[in-house]
Amino acid sequence: MESNDVQADLKHVLYTREQIEGRVRELADEIDRDYEGRDLLIVGVLKGAVMIMADLARALHSHVTMDWMAVSSYGSGTQSSGVVRILKDLETDLMGKHVLIVEDIIDSGLTLSWLKANLQSRGPASLEICTLLRKPEGAKVEIDVKYVGYDIPNEFVVGYGLDFAEKYRNLDFIGTLAPHIYE
Ligand code: IMP
Ligand code: MG
Repeated sequence: MESNDVQADLKHVLYTREQIEGRVRELADEIDRDYEGRDLLIVGVLKGAVMIMADLARALHSHVTMDWMAVSSYGSGTQSSGVVRILKDLETDLMGKHVLIVEDIIDSGLTLSWLKANLQSRGPASLEICTLLRKPEGAKVEIDVKYVGYDIPNEFVVGYGLDFAEKYRNLDFIGTLAPHIYE
């Protein structure tokens, strides 16, 4: 879907399809450089990271393997609690591997800090995080993120994998919702 398809639902477009494409390519170039000569496993966190995983993986010039995890964060509504349950685990043994977690967005950081600790305990050679978006104002825990697409204001955003009540994931851009949608 394009912005014309959902115009009435939007407050504004934050990043266009072209902007995201360009930024993802820049991230891919950095990752190519940093992991040169090493085997890399990229781990996408379902469902939000599907779009960035697909685009990032295709923008890389090196071989990677890909795996997926699904987690649910207990808590009320849109607030993350930090108590995380694994809905789908990895199929790959992480022992001795260079692992890069790929996320759509980091808000409080609670989900990812749990996930990072969980994967760290599996003995990877290295473990880093790449996120398309980060909300610095939402941070509740310090978390070291090596690759960040964009730091954004503390607003609810949708599109390019990000949902509101499971909708809007298939927008080809990132936008903020009009208040009448969530109020
Ligand atoms: P955290 O544990 O607070 O960092 O939660 C991160 C998760 O909350 C993300 O993986 C998203 O699923 C969800 N989330 C946080 N902010 C937004 C947003 O603005 N739009 C859509 N989902 C969001
Ligand atoms: Mg997510």
